[in-house]
Amino acid sequence: MPKNILFQLDVDPHPSSFDAVVAVDAGVDHLLQYGSVQADSVEPLVHGAMFTRGGDDLKNTALFVGGNDVVKAEAIFRSVQKAFFGPVRVSVMLDASGCNTTAAAAVASASKHITLDGCTAVVLGGTGPVGRRVAQMLARQNANVFLTSRSLNRAETACKEIGEQVRTGNLEAAAPENEDSKKTLLEKADVIIACGAAGVELVSKERMLDLPKLRVAIDLNAVPPAGLGGIEAFDKAKRLHDDREDSAVAYGPIGVGGLKMRTHKAAVAKLFTSNSLVLDADEIYDLTMEQMNR
Ligand SMILES: NC(=O)c1ccc[n+]([C@@H]2O[C@H](COP(=O)([O-])OP(=O)(O)OC[C@H]3O[C@@H](n4cnc5c(N)ncnc54)[C@H](OP(=O)(O)O)[C@@H]3O)[C@@H](O)[C@H]2O)c1
Repeated sequence: MPKNILFQLDVDPHPSSFDAVVAVDAGVDHLLQYGSVQADSVEPLVHGAMFTRGGDDLKNTALFVGGNDVVKAEAIFRSVQKAFFGPVRVSVMLDASGCNTTAAAAVASASKHITLDGCTAVVLGGTGPVGRRVAQMLARQNANVFLTSRSLNRAETACKEIGEQVRTGNLEAAAPENEDSKKTLLEKADVIIACGAAGVELVSKERMLDLPKLRVAIDLNAVPPAGLGGIEAFDKAKRLHDDREDSAVAYGPIGVGGLKMRTHKAAVAKLFTSNSLVLDADEIYDLTMEQMNR
């Protein structure tokens, strides 16, 4: 039986130690790490991975694309796929900065408490790599999604680009300019997923506790202060109003982190089941649902 070899292609000079540990825990036998990888020079690395083993053994080599700059990682992910020759290929996964696994864990967690099909979801800080994928995954489940930014232009661009990936649901850009317009927007939400930059409060605790329609609130920011006031990092399906049975449930970043970690490991392990898998947002969301429902 050939050993499982994972090429960790990372945009940063030092390939992510987090991704390396997960790879080993997922059962990778040999991890080959490459830093400062660039889209226009990745082809020889891909060819080295796919031309060395043949036939059924090709599935025992796979590629993982990561690093902190998700836009650069996405470009590498595209270049990797262009370097394949039809069936002569290996499986590849994108999870730069945990964007796919984090978004999938958040959306899957929300789906435990509400039917996403037809619900209204507000994705705060939706222009970043995590927020874009959260919005994409929600739209794929046929949700009506408001994607927010401090700039309407950036929110519109993100909605347009996501709309090219997914045809279901509704995507609408929003850039509330003051507390009143933010309140009006948040009052429409069945689900709020906060994907803003680390350490930035996007909604106060007082506002969070005054949203009667809200069913699920998820904050992905692990750096204090919380992105959604009143949500603690470890919260996992905790009621926003402790004393109310019908209260919305809340998740903090560590509350969704367990599912994210299981998904990340399962996705790396899955790479070695075939030589033709491409694991991006949709595939990783499906895998997260499998993990959650096990
Ligand atoms: N729990 C986990 O496992 C995990 C894993 C990965 C990431 N995360 C967290 O998930 C969140 C999203 O990650 P990301 O990489 O997508 O974030 P990001 O790119 O750093 O930021 C997301 C968006 O936040 C907005 N933003 C930036 N500074 C702001 C400010 N001062 N006030 C209001 N909005 C601001 C920006 O949108 P505009 O400029 O368009 O307004 C930006 O596009 C982060 O908090 C990150 O730490 C958690």
